[in-house]
Amino acid sequence: MDAPLKTRDLVKTFGGIRALDGVSIDVYNEKITLIIGPNGSGKTTLINVITGFYHPERGEVKFNGSNITGLPPFKIFEKGIVRTFQIPHLFKSLTVLENMLVASRNNPGEKLRKALFKNSWRRAEEHLVEKALRILELLNLDHLWDKPACTLSGGQMKLLEIGRALMADPLMVLMDEPIAGVNPRLANEIFEHLLSLRKELNLTFLIVEHRLDIALPYADYVYAMDRGKIISKGSPSEVLEDKIVARAYLGG
Ligand SMILES: Nc1ncnc2c1ncn2[C@@H]1O[C@H](COP(=O)(O)OP(=O)(O)O)[C@@H](O)[C@H]1O
Ligand SMILES: [Mg+2]
Repeated sequence: MDAPLKTRDLVKTFGGIRALDGVSIDVYNEKITLIIGPNGSGKTTLINVITGFYHPERGEVKFNGSNITGLPPFKIFEKGIVRTFQIPHLFKSLTVLENMLVASRNNPGEKLRKALFKNSWRRAEEHLVEKALRILELLNLDHLWDKPACTLSGGQMKLLEIGRALMADPLMVLMDEPIAGVNPRLANEIFEHLLSLRKELNLTFLIVEHRLDIALPYADYVYAMDRGKIISKGSPSEVLEDKIVARAYLGG
């Protein structure tokens, strides 16, 4: 299997804590790779290291064959790796559509010079609006396009956060607990959306989750973490049946 993203032997410490203690994972092309693990096992730290928010003390992150370890977050974003946050980073007073537009790579505010050339400006904007609406449709949010983000439900905010990530034309989407605090029905709905997005946009997902009940059936490949280490890997059923994983969750 082709793995565009690979980490090798990543170590990241905070004071005396080894948040990552030699983490090596492969993220397979157009698959959903899931990382599970109890709270504090290092999942968010791993995403922060991959996306350039933290520098590892040791180890390597490779994307499509090139070493991206320690590059600043915007460089990694430019390479097509886009992340979502545990708590959606939305502009609460802007509408759903406006939230999408400001997230695009060539957002309307970014290249004001273009405004001088009215026609090209309008065309660019139209193209972005069309793209935003198409993505909102995939997420069943299109009917809410003119509603302020603050009026959305928690689940809809999570979907909008995903939509914003997709405005950047990512190759790979890294998600930190996309279903945290969401009821099971909505959580399943979010994962169903991810499956159709993957098909529609040929996307690769790396998803971090604390809860394993809902997320596991949607994953193609699973890594389990505990105390900064990968303690199990394989198909969802292999990892679910692994006694080491159960023990980690029970805190043994
Ligand atoms: N910025 C930080 N400063 C200090 N300690 C941190 C920081 N980020 C994470 N940690 C510690 O690293 C460990 C792993 O945390 P984290 O990656 O957030 O785990 P998870 O996302 O699996 O819950 C925890 O012990 C946490 O307290
Ligand atoms: Mg976390």
